[in-house]
Amino acid sequence: MSNPEYRLFQLGSNPSLAEEIASISDIPLAAVDLETFADNEIYERIVDSVRGQDVYVIQGITTPVHDNLMRLMVFIDAARRTSARSINVIIPYFGYARSDRKARSREPIVARLIADLLETQGVKRLMAMDLHTSQVQGFFDIPVDHLLATPVQSHYFYEQGLTGDDVVVVSPDPNSLKMVQNFAKVLNANWAIVDAREEEHGQAKHFQITGTVAGKHAILMDDIIDSGRTMAQASQALADAGATKIDALATHPVLSHHAVERLEAAPLDRVIVTNTIEIPAEKRFDKLVELSVAPLFAEGLRRVINHESMAGMLTSPDNPEVSL
Ligand code: R5P
Repeated sequence: MSNPEYRLFQLGSNPSLAEEIASISDIPLAAVDLETFADNEIYERIVDSVRGQDVYVIQGITTPVHDNLMRLMVFIDAARRTSARSINVIIPYFGYARSDRKARSREPIVARLIADLLETQGVKRLMAMDLHTSQVQGFFDIPVDHLLATPVQSHYFYEQGLTGDDVVVVSPDPNSLKMVQNFAKVLNANWAIVDAREEEHGQAKHFQITGTVAGKHAILMDDIIDSGRTMAQASQALADAGATKIDALATHPVLSHHAVERLEAAPLDRVIVTNTIEIPAEKRFDKLVELSVAPLFAEGLRRVINHESMAGMLTSPDNPEVSL
C-alpha cells in the first residue's frame, strides 16, 4: 500500500508497535532525523520532502511524557512548515486523558490543553485507542477515530475458551462499568463491580462486590494500569469473595513506580495488556501477557486512507452481534 500521496512516520515512543503497523500496512516508515541536544532541546528534520502529501505520524504520550509530547509538537511544526497537505496523528496512548475535568477548584484540564495544542498547530485528524473517557473526543473539532482494543482482547478470551456463565467480567471501580458491561456481553458472561469505600479519609478501604463472583473465573477490566493499586486491591477483594481464577485486563500498561511488585504480589493469575505502550525488559514479569493492537491500528489507517467507514471496527469478530 506504498503511495507517494502519503507518508508514515514514527517518533520513537513505541518503535516496535510502529514497525508492526507499518509492516501490516505495507507502508515503509519514512525517515526523520531526531536529536536531543545537551541541554535537552529537541532537534528534528524530516529527511525527504512531504510537500503536498498527507503525513501520518505515530507517537504516544508515554513516559517520558513531556519529551514524547514535545517530539510530536516539533514534528508537527516541521511538517506544517514544509507544506504537508495534511497532518494526521496516531496516538496509541493519550497521556493526560485522565485530566478531563475540574475535579477540584483551580485545577487545569490538560487533555483539553493538548487537544488545543494539536489543533492550533494544524493537525487534521487524530486516531487514538481507549481514551480514558470517550467524551475526550469532544475536546477536538477535528475528526477523531477512537479505536477500541476490545476486538483483540475478546478474541484472546475466545481462544482460551473463557466465555459464558462461568466467567464474570468485573469493574474495579464505577468508571469502567460501561466498558465492562460491553465486554461481558461480547463474552456472553456475567458482570460485577467492586465498590471501594473509604469511610474516613486515610482509613483502610472497605470493598463491596455487586454481582456474583464466587466459583467464577473473574476478569478485572480497566483502561489503564498505572501504579497497579486498583487492580491489586480489587483482585484481593475478588479472591476474598471466592473467585477461582482472577485475570487483570487493561489496554494501557503504564506500569509506573512499584506497579510490577504490586501486581506480582496480588492474587492475579495473569495481567493481560496491549502494546499501546512499550514495556521495557525490566518491567516484564511471568504473569504478563501482551496482546498486539497493531492489526487494529493498521486497519484503522487503511480505512482512513481509503475513506472507508470505521463502523465495522466497533464489533468483535467473535461476536459481531454486539456493538461496542
Ligand atoms: C482511573 O480512573 C483509571 O481508569 C484507572 O483505574 C487508574 O488509572 C488505575 O490506576 P492505578 O493502577 O494507579 O490504580
